[in-house]
Amino acid sequence: MTLKVLVMSGSARRASLNRRFAAFAAERLAAGGAAVTTVDWGALDLPLYHGDLEAAGLPTGALALRRLLAEHDALFVSTPEYNAFVPPLLVNAFDWVSRVPASDGLPQGLATTAGKVAGLVSASPGPLGGLRSLGALRGFLGATIGLLVVPEHYALGQADKALADGATLDARQDAGLQRVVDAVLRTGRALQAARGA
Ligand SMILES: Cc1cc2nc3c(=O)[nH]c(=O)nc-3n(C[C@H](O)[C@H](O)[C@H](O)COP(=O)(O)O)c2cc1C
Repeated sequence: MTLKVLVMSGSARRASLNRRFAAFAAERLAAGGAAVTTVDWGALDLPLYHGDLEAAGLPTGALALRRLLAEHDALFVSTPEYNAFVPPLLVNAFDWVSRVPASDGLPQGLATTAGKVAGLVSASPGPLGGLRSLGALRGFLGATIGLLVVPEHYALGQADKALADGATLDARQDAGLQRVVDAVLRTGRALQAARGA
């Protein structure tokens, strides 16, 4: 069965470097035979988590994101680094998903992520490429959200140059991204085979 991969940028900014890097990853995942969907943050109603909002009814974006996660086998994230940490967009999105109860024929939010494969990359104009955010994101999405994060990751430094209009990744950058893409495809397919899917 075709592996379905949900691709996500940790930045919704129009000119986001991570949106561009996520688009590169999406192309490679598709070239590797995966069916790829990219999260459109602008289409998801995901206000900053607040218990009073939750009590008034879950935002439609929380339910939509839970559905997207349920419908895919794997996740691929390109994240910015904010003060050496994960940007609030991602934390907030998964916080909402974690609050979605079993409903609409789908399991509870965290049950839709449990044991699914995830690959992480980051991009930053800085020299470290957002590397510090990757450790924090790995802990959050792995230990807490329950995704199986592949060991490979890649931080693209000086991403403003590497991802400028008309620029191409150099051989080292290319190989770094491809290593994570290949790990997600390989691990996702191994899990599919183990489940007999
Ligand atoms: C609140 C904030 C904190 C930031 N902290 C870091 C940081 O710790 N390390 C880093 O490399 N870049 C940092 N940056 C710069 C981002 O890497 C840069 O704005 C990047 O372009 C954001 O990703 P995007 O282009 O995908 O939106 C920070 C930016 C913001 C707005």
